[in-house]
Amino acid sequence: MKGLILSGGKGTRLYPLTYTRAKQLIPVANKPVLFRVIEAIRDAGITDIGIVVGDTADEIREAVGTGQQWGVQVTYIPQEAPLGLAHAVKISQDFLGDEPFVMFLGDNVIQGGITQLVREFEEGDYNAQIVLTPVKEPQHYGVAELDDEGNIIRLVEKPRNPRSNLALVGIYMFDHHIFEAVNSITPSWRGELEITDAIQWLVEHGYRVRPYIHRGWWIDTGKPIDMLEANNRVLLEMDHEIRGYVDRDSQVDDNVTVEEGAEIINSVIRGPSIIGKNTRVVNAYVGPFTSIYHDCHIEDCEIEHSIVLENTRIEDIPYRIEDSLIGRNVVIHRSPIKPKAYKMTLGDNSKVGLL
Ligand code: TTP
Repeated sequence: MKGLILSGGKGTRLYPLTYTRAKQLIPVANKPVLFRVIEAIRDAGITDIGIVVGDTADEIREAVGTGQQWGVQVTYIPQEAPLGLAHAVKISQDFLGDEPFVMFLGDNVIQGGITQLVREFEEGDYNAQIVLTPVKEPQHYGVAELDDEGNIIRLVEKPRNPRSNLALVGIYMFDHHIFEAVNSITPSWRGELEITDAIQWLVEHGYRVRPYIHRGWWIDTGKPIDMLEANNRVLLEMDHEIRGYVDRDSQVDDNVTVEEGAEIINSVIRGPSIIGKNTRVVNAYVGPFTSIYHDCHIEDCEIEHSIVLENTRIEDIPYRIEDSLIGRNVVIHRSPIKPKAYKMTLGDNSKVGLL
């Protein structure tokens, strides 16, 4: 089998972070979501992986390279615009050839990996396998309707009146018949070739599409709140380790990772959380569910349930920072210069909650 990771798209819901960075490279527990996807596919025994890339192609190529660091071979497939998930399949036909493949959205995180899923598809006699999971608000997802025997009747993209609570998870398995489908459907009202329409086409043309119900958690990291949620889940489940320096005046919980070169000085770190390489935390409180990436400086402040990207400096802040997603090279500090006022340089679409 081959792997196909979709890593194009615009990531508008994560502006302003995604003006300057591919959304798939935003880290969850200090590891980019895309790296987690590559590892899940590699762990399922698949080493020939295509990555569909768009405007952020250069950044993704630079981060992933040939794939050698994971023991896989990566082929990049440029998509001229985000014209839909089925469009991404269509332009990947030369790479995929006649082999069955697993398609994984590059911004999705799933509990437990995909090894079992891939094995069941390989052992079964299906043309496609889709992954479904029960959700609370199905109207925001692609939704599958099943009959009493568990066969798929219909797939609908973001239905106004959903007939089931089973959402499509961003992991799909197909054999070569999917190319007949993606070459037969037409763009939807939003101008995209929809993967739900392609799968519906397979069902209607008598191909065997197997629904697999996933019972663990799954997160599509589309919005900031989803990034924080994925961060919580992964921090809770990962193995923690202190590889950096913790001074004697600090208190660090067992479920905290301190990466190489990091320094914790006179601070309290509550887990689960992670402090990245060469980051310094001084006279500070880092609360649960916080990931601070590499080369940051956190001093005289309190931060909890947040993600901070690399090379950011947060210093001397009187109130606790919570529920925040803070980008790269950001500086947040108290300014002694009069007049006493908030002084900000914020990117377009930034959101700040002040007391
Ligand atoms: P989406 O979350 O549907 O789209 P997006 O990334 O453009 O985000 P937003 O809605 O916030 O603007 O995409 C899911 C994944 O698939 C994501 O990793 C981007 C990728 N993708 C492609 O590679 N090509 C495409 O044509 C589309 C629509 C998405």
